[in-house]
Formats: sequence, C-alpha cells, structure tokens
Amino acid sequence: MTQLSEHLLKQNTAPELSRLLGHITDCCTQIAKLLHHGPMNDILGMAGAENVQGEDQKKLDVISNDMLKEALAKTGLVKGIASEEEEHCVSCHEDGEFLVLFDPLDGSSNIDINSLVGTIFSIYSAPEKSSIEDADFLRPGHEQVAAGYVLYGPSVILTLTTGQGTQMYMLDQTIGEYVLYQANVEIPRETQEFAINASNQRHWAAPMQAYIADLLKGKTGPRGKNFNMRWVAAMVGDVHRILCRGGIFTYPWDKKNPDKPGKLRLMYEANPMGFLVEQAGGKAFTDKARILDIQPDNIHQRVPVILGSADEVKTCIQYHKDI
Ligand code: AHG
Ligand code: MN
Ligand code: MN
Repeated sequence: MTQLSEHLLKQNTAPELSRLLGHITDCCTQIAKLLHHGPMNDILGMAGAENVQGEDQKKLDVISNDMLKEALAKTGLVKGIASEEEEHCVSCHEDGEFLVLFDPLDGSSNIDINSLVGTIFSIYSAPEKSSIEDADFLRPGHEQVAAGYVLYGPSVILTLTTGQGTQMYMLDQTIGEYVLYQANVEIPRETQEFAINASNQRHWAAPMQAYIADLLKGKTGPRGKNFNMRWVAAMVGDVHRILCRGGIFTYPWDKKNPDKPGKLRLMYEANPMGFLVEQAGGKAFTDKARILDIQPDNIHQRVPVILGSADEVKTCIQYHKDI
C-alpha cells in the first residue's frame, strides 16, 4: 500500500506542500482520535458561544479549530490561516509559503448523534509580503494549489487533490498513516440520486422548484427515470458519496434568509469541494457561474452550491437559464 508521502513524491509534489499536507493530516488524525472517544472526553455539546456567522458553536467546532490553528502555526510553512470559526484571518509565520483556509468541523449538527463529520481544507500560495490581511485570501478557487477533506466515518478517509486528479486515502490506524486506496476518482457523468434539504422546498426559487419537481415525477415524468434522495446534513458526507458513486448535491439560495446568497461558505466549503469534484470529472456551479471562477469579496462569503455528476449539474443549471 502506498503511503500519502510516497504518493505525493510520485506525483512530483513540491516538498513544502507535501510537508504541509503531512501536518494537516496528522492534526486530523488527532481530531479523529478525540471523536473516537467522544462522550468520554466531554467534548460533545455546545460551547456556549456564537461564531462570526451567528451560528452556535459546538465544543468540537472550537476544539478542532484551535488544534488546526496551533498545528499550522508551528509548521513555519504557513503565512496565515482563515477559518469558518475565526472572525478574521490569523497570521502565522512571515516566511510561510502557504495560506490555509478550513472548516475545522463540517456537519457539526451530527456530532451529538455520532454521525458523519469531517474537516475541509483549501491551500493557496502565499503572497510575497510579510504580514497578511483578510484581503490576501480573496482569490478565486481555481488558484488553489491543493484541497481536501478528512471524513471521520466508520473509516477515516482523506480525499485530496493537488490538481492531478482526486485521490482517496484511508487512515491505517495501526501505523497512523494515510494509505492510497482509490487513485484518480471518476464521478459518473449521469446519476439517479440527488441530495437537498427538502424541508426548505417552499423557500426555493422557481428554477429549483421546477428541477426538483421533475426529479420527483420519476419514470413517467420528463426525466424518464426514478431518482433516489439522500441527505447527510454534512456536506463532507454528501460529497464523499457523490465521489464514490455519483449524484447531485445542492444547497440552493432560498428566501428564508433572502439577504444570504446561500448557506454554504465559498472559501471553506464550496471552493475546496468544487476543486475535488472537478478533478474527479464532475461539475461545481452556483445557479449562475462556475464556483472556482468566483472572485470572493469576503472571507466568510456564502454561495448557492450545485455540484456532482457532470450531466446532471448541467441539466440543473439549464433549468436556471430557462426560467
Ligand atoms: P457546518 O457544520 O460546518 O456549519 O456545515 C454544515 C453545512 C453542511 O455541511 C451541510 O450540507 C449543511 O450545513 C446542512 O444544512 P441543514 O442543517 O440546513 O440541512
Ligand atoms: Mn461546514
Ligand atoms: Mn464547520
């Protein structure tokens, strides 16, 4: 079995980037261990605070954020970090070559029910200046040099891209190393499975209403086939399923919060997942544009997300052009 570091070497990954990925994944291994002992470590439940986005933080949101922040600051490789749980970017090392953005714990609402959660990360080259500010992070997703997630499920899985396809590695708990088990993941172009939080249906815009209504009509409807539905409530779990067997995932704009352009965060969720999905042959769009081409205007910016099997994403986008 090929270990992560060996595989990165085979792909001619820059040594500094390989080292950084080693540090990130080691930290995720520590988070996985904490999760493994969840209730025993008194790490479940609420932290009693809100993050900058007005969301109630779970204890594990705060703990995993602090673990990643500290681990990255020590590497000397990182100029600064931005996190879903931090109001502003945090400077690390003035000579650091990279900027790292992360959602330390995706799927927080699943923690207390022992269901899927994960860590999502996105890496850019750092600008050539000694101090950084939020504006230095506002770069489109197509400039990412690497992105990935670690899924804390029945197995601990790292899914990673450095722009040379999307690879899956599994944490071998006996040696504490990630080993390659699925190289060059390919998302099937077509699918009969969709993921959306249907409880928001009455709030969706007309094109999404029309698209989902047609999926639900099944074999005798305009799509001519039956569709199944899945919703993990952790993007990391839904995207992992789509990378494994295809599907379409969407968290669309809805009028429940008309001021918010969507629920999911561009820099910590949509961009890294968009990079992974595209590198596996899928597509990742808002209702209007390719996610990786969006010029961010705020590190905590939210966007509508439609991603997954290429042909199905195209069909969904077509509804948004037609209506
Ligand atoms: P986070 O736990 O980092 O705040 O992200 C949760 C996100 C995403 O992972 C998931 O797809 C979505 O929120 C679920 O939202 P609903 O609870 O509205 O279904
Ligand atoms: Mn998240
Ligand atoms: Mn989160």
